[in-house]
Amino acid sequence: MVELFQRIKAATRAPTAEERALDLLELHEARPGITEATLGSWTTATGQSGYDLLVQRVPLHARAVLELGAGNGPLLERLVVAHPELERVIGVDPCAADLALARDRLGDRVELRQERVESLGLEDASVDAVLTHHVFYLFDPPEPAVRQIARVLRPGGTFATAHWTFEAKSHALFAELMEVFARLTCRDAPHFAGWGDQRLFDRDQLATLLRAGGLGQPVIEEHVLAIAEPTQLLCQRLMGFFYSVELQSPETQRELCAEWSALLAATDSGDGLARLDFPFSIVTSEP
Ligand SMILES: C[S@@+](CC[C@H](N)C(=O)[O-])C[C@H]1O[C@@H](n2cnc3c(N)ncnc32)[C@H](O)[C@@H]1O
Repeated sequence: MVELFQRIKAATRAPTAEERALDLLELHEARPGITEATLGSWTTATGQSGYDLLVQRVPLHARAVLELGAGNGPLLERLVVAHPELERVIGVDPCAADLALARDRLGDRVELRQERVESLGLEDASVDAVLTHHVFYLFDPPEPAVRQIARVLRPGGTFATAHWTFEAKSHALFAELMEVFARLTCRDAPHFAGWGDQRLFDRDQLATLLRAGGLGQPVIEEHVLAIAEPTQLLCQRLMGFFYSVELQSPETQRELCAEWSALLAATDSGDGLARLDFPFSIVTSEP
């Protein structure tokens, strides 16, 4: 079995963005489809996943739509069903294993390209919407990605991304789970300071970055995935979603699972289901 995150673990200083990107790619090659396995299972109180909410942001006049970091294709699959009128649907991801799964589920309907956003080969002003689902905050540094998004969007187009929440503190249990996670990860990997550029997690700095790259003032909405699942299943899904679990030793992972399970089990009101609100943002911006 491949040992994941070797570059980050071996670094005795903060790993570079390129080291993090290469380690992340190896993780996705080893475990394609991991994001859908978690976030694809959960919906808002009105039954919509983050993928569904993004599909709804596609403008009515759209003829071509691009997804960056398309992974194994869950958003693209919803997109072609909801918008059969689209002339061109494109998915971009550097991970060959994820793209192979996407190709299996989407066939020829979608143009899949093995590329990184930083070296996107699409023509200027060629799409009406650019979508990303839990990807944009991984682009590090973000400036080249923002420039590429602004470059490929047509006038009147839309950029929409399902983003890390700006409201974590408003969700007490979620915030507590994250606090436990950060404490345990920091114990095993104190030199690791996080995955993306920290400016992307601040509303004002995000807005400044988008505007400087040729996009407009963002509109930010907060949403919540309302989860009710057996504690162990929920705990395993969360552990599969958060990359940094792989920076923890097996003992620490067991400790994390035990601490998370205790917090989640305390929400079971007798029906065998733990309840968790998992917040996220939808950020939209136009050139
Ligand atoms: C958290 S996963 C999300 C996958 C998919 N959007 C979903 O939500 O199911 C992040 C994805 O971004 C891709 N990715 C990472 N860096 C990228 C880059 N520089 N350009 C394009 N895609 C990238 C990864 O390969 C991975 O498939």
